[in-house]
Amino acid sequence: MAGFSPRKLSFSIIFLGLMTVLGSQAALDVHYYDRTCPEAEKIIRYTVLNASMHDAKVPARILRMFFHDCFIKGCDASVLLDSTPQNQAEKDGPPNISLRAFYVIDDAKTKLESACPKTVSCADIVAIAARDVVARVNIEKPF
Ligand SMILES: *[C@@H]1O[C@H](CO)[C@@H](O)[C@H](O)[C@H]1NC(C)=O
Ligand SMILES: *[C@@H]1O[C@H](CO)[C@@H](O)[C@H](O)[C@H]1NC(C)=O
Repeated sequence: MAGFSPRKLSFSIIFLGLMTVLGSQAALDVHYYDRTCPEAEKIIRYTVLNASMHDAKVPARILRMFFHDCFIKGCDASVLLDSTPQNQAEKDGPPNISLRAFYVIDDAKTKLESACPKTVSCADIVAIAARDVVARVNIEKPF
């Protein structure tokens, strides 16, 4: 019991308590929009599904968009921003060459703005859309 002391134990308890508090504040909620915009997830799912039926590459493009969005200071939908004369946007940077399907996110955002204005963030649309396309992957016949 050489490493054990009440002092270390109390530090550990404080540390764990702090992590619990910080952890619970930063917790993600799967159904975050249930009360503020109940149709949000359905609207996003439908928009992505419809676009995927017209273009089979949409699911892969959305997953890739989410991956790229999470570079450069987190998954904040910054990849959706357009360039201005003073500032080149992420989507116009070299890795953007094959990034497409922005229109799907724009389409979902337009529908969400008419269903519940200024409620659902673009970052959440990208994340929910990416989750949905992964969940829909057909794993029954992989090859
Ligand atoms: C379905 O997707 C197509 C192709 O992107 C689009 O032209 C059409 O407006 C979409 N329909 C709805 C109802 O979102
Ligand atoms: C980045 O993506 C947008 C949207 O698809 C496209 O209009 C633009 O030309 C792309 N920029 C580069 C440098 O490839």
